[in-house]
Amino acid sequence: MYHTAAKVFVFTSNMSASRVIRCSIIRHYCKRTPIKLRVSEALSGAGLGENIQIQGWVRSVRSQKEHLFLHVNDGSSLQSLQIVSRPDVSVLPTFGSAVEVTGCLQRSPSQRQPVELQADKMCVVGECNPVNFPFKIKERHGIEYVRQFPHLRCRTNVFSSLLRIRSEATAAIHSYFKENGFMQIHTPVITSNDCEGAGELFQVEPSGNVKEENCNFFSVPAYLTVSGQLHLEVMSGAFSRVYTFGPTFRAENSQSRRHLAEFYMVEAEVSFTQCLEDLTKVMEDMFRSVTEHVLVHCAEDVDLFHTYVTPGHQDDVDAMLKKKFSIITYTEAIDILNRSSEKFVFPTKWGCDLQTEHEKYLVKHCGNIPVFVTDYPYDLKPFYARDNQDHPKHTAAAVDLLVPGVGELCGGTLREERLDLLSARLAQNGLENTYNWYLDLRRFGSVPHGGFGMGFERYLQYILGVDNIKDVIPFPRFPHSCLL
Ligand code: 4AD
Repeated sequence: MYHTAAKVFVFTSNMSASRVIRCSIIRHYCKRTPIKLRVSEALSGAGLGENIQIQGWVRSVRSQKEHLFLHVNDGSSLQSLQIVSRPDVSVLPTFGSAVEVTGCLQRSPSQRQPVELQADKMCVVGECNPVNFPFKIKERHGIEYVRQFPHLRCRTNVFSSLLRIRSEATAAIHSYFKENGFMQIHTPVITSNDCEGAGELFQVEPSGNVKEENCNFFSVPAYLTVSGQLHLEVMSGAFSRVYTFGPTFRAENSQSRRHLAEFYMVEAEVSFTQCLEDLTKVMEDMFRSVTEHVLVHCAEDVDLFHTYVTPGHQDDVDAMLKKKFSIITYTEAIDILNRSSEKFVFPTKWGCDLQTEHEKYLVKHCGNIPVFVTDYPYDLKPFYARDNQDHPKHTAAAVDLLVPGVGELCGGTLREERLDLLSARLAQNGLENTYNWYLDLRRFGSVPHGGFGMGFERYLQYILGVDNIKDVIPFPRFPHSCLL
């Protein structure tokens, strides 16, 4: 398939000493059509003694008098497969180039790898000029440097590990919900509602010629969704457990290390529930189940982060998993802040929103483990939050999960299911006509229900100990930056 553009090398004879003998014996058995294997399969010993073919990108090149050693990686694992070939190839595959190698997979004489591929035939599928390639062989590039190359950073060990972890965590989230009876709903990306009511919306209109004068494409203003919650609530009127997991968008003018304009959110909605504990249980269970899965199934990749990117973080994660998450009310949180000797920049009066500095302090105060903060002032929460009418202070049945190093990881509430209270609150905000359909949900078979959302990138930041959210998403979008 590559033969017109690619360079093909066929090795015939005199490799040296023991390798030659082993190779010729093995070649005898290896005349059949090569089996195409992924690097991870070859490393696990599949195809041992067989004629195999692998395709991937060169991660290291070491030329010795008698042998040329390459390490080839195809993204299937952190480890690369060692290729041993004759040293006198006419074009040396360079660091970063794409190659296809055929030969016999055999046990490696070295302790450093279980197997190696004795190359019979090597084909450079795509050359890579090492002078211009931004990543250099044997150099460990800083995470900020790598971030400048969103189109190439998947070729680095750290970022490819991140992408494998992200993919495995995504699968684990879906498994968790499936195993616990939740149905997945594909909530829309384009919507006419502002669920959070914060006005942080990206409006959607056609560009250029398609645009009609003074007329919205959808006849109403439409936006990229800030949350799938309201659509999940629709579904929770027919399915008692639903979830969604997709991209959400916020036009927040923030350059912080924990905000993105586009991020992935896991959202769940549970019907027939009247207590926040039903929600905190799902949040904690999901968190534990996904984290334990990732730690087992991506052990090498996670270890790379915990060794080179955030040394020592593994101990914090292990310690956290052994403890139950804390739970305090907002009122208790304010008391803790007010009793502390710390000088906070933002006020800590009852009624104030908790700022990052407060969240950090509270998490530390609770022993550096995740902490649920419940029952926030009613006025701080969006229109859908349930009024805790029986509380001495005016609070809503809302809960945030705060975690070390990141702050708010999850936000959830019981939803106001009582038609009269919800109508009154919408009317106060001039929204009763906009949300007539939402009021219908309370008119026809309304049940007490609640749900939450977890920021997926913040989750990855927390378990890996990554400081900047831009380093845990393939293509970060933030103010003044939409590369690629
Ligand atoms: O607290 P939030 O705004 O809650 C909601 O959107 C609810 N409607 C969810 C629900 O109940 N179904 O956002 C939920 C989580 C936050 O706790 C945070 O982890 C993450 O989404 N998040 C962001 N992550 C990255 N960048 C941003 N700009 C984020 N804004 C929120």
